[in-house]
Amino acid sequence: METKIFQADQIDAAVEILKAGELVAFPTETVYGLGADATNEAAVKKVYAAKGRPSDNPLIATVADFAMAQEYAIDVPETAQKLVAKFWPGPLTILLKVKPGSLPTAVTGGLPTVAFRNPADSLTHELIAKLGRPIVGPSANTSTKPSPTTATHVYHDLNGKIAGIIDGGQTEIGLESTIIDLTVTPNIVLRPGAITPSELSAVLGTEVLLNHGKVGDKDVPKAPGMKYRHYAPKAQVLIVDQISDFNRINLSQKSVAVVALTDVLAELLKNYPNANHFSLGQNIADAGHFLFEALRYFDDLPEIKTIYVQGFGDAENAEAYMNRLNKAAAGKHFQ
Ligand code: TXA
Ligand code: MG
Repeated sequence: METKIFQADQIDAAVEILKAGELVAFPTETVYGLGADATNEAAVKKVYAAKGRPSDNPLIATVADFAMAQEYAIDVPETAQKLVAKFWPGPLTILLKVKPGSLPTAVTGGLPTVAFRNPADSLTHELIAKLGRPIVGPSANTSTKPSPTTATHVYHDLNGKIAGIIDGGQTEIGLESTIIDLTVTPNIVLRPGAITPSELSAVLGTEVLLNHGKVGDKDVPKAPGMKYRHYAPKAQVLIVDQISDFNRINLSQKSVAVVALTDVLAELLKNYPNANHFSLGQNIADAGHFLFEALRYFDDLPEIKTIYVQGFGDAENAEAYMNRLNKAAAGKHFQ
């Protein structure tokens, strides 16, 4: 299948593809998503096939507004209204009880809940509004790979497997949305993202927990997808906890690469001017924006066997970045 690239003035053509039960990748402020008509079971199944995604990992229903989400949900709590008023459109996904029979089980993975997201992207809004129904929206990468932050990343993974990609340029945030479960009390963040538990708690006026559940921990509710290997480039990733630790790494080796903030890199490159490197920008927000791009960059350089990536420990607002980096590194730190 030929994968077409659509520009901003070609959304109508992308809508026709969705109506025909085919797949179109779409931009959001977090990462690119892989879209199919969420009410069309056969189309939704193609999403799992294109990504190589395990079938028990449910999909997000991407909507154009809260009213569209409410058509597919029941017992919608007041907390949903409050959060949506403040954060939608934006990088927040809310878990609600699904209206039985309103969406194929391929979307929900057979769970009694469904995750709704309303991304802040005008092209994607136009796409969903013109279709008139939600589209599923997992990240548009091959399963286990870092999520795509450009149309080129999507093309790299899914060329020939999907009908089209809407090119909305580089995504702004670079890490996937915060997911909050509104079907339990207290509410729990299942996946950390740009919107933090304390921001959510401030709007709700109630406690919001962050799920620190580890793989295999059966006692904590979690987003099923978080148990799978994820965000992993071809090379081994090692987290470097302290900036001073970088001085113990021989960066003249052709098989290693370093990923760090610009000022940290500048110091390292004084000693190792030829070191393979990728900058994470100036601060933690930039680091989130560049992390997946950095990991993908070294996938194209087969000689790189180890990537040393700057960690931020428990620094404020680093929760989402560290969550993804930990998965990319399978929890391994440079010793
Ligand atoms: O920022 C984002 O959320 C991106 C963009 C494209 O919108 N999408 C995204 O989708 O990250 P995906 O499929 O890569 O991650 C969604 C996560 C998965 O870990 C999945 O297990 C979880 O959400 N999830 C979906 N439905 C769920 C449900 N009913 N209960 C618990 N977790 C759910
Ligand atoms: Mg994903």
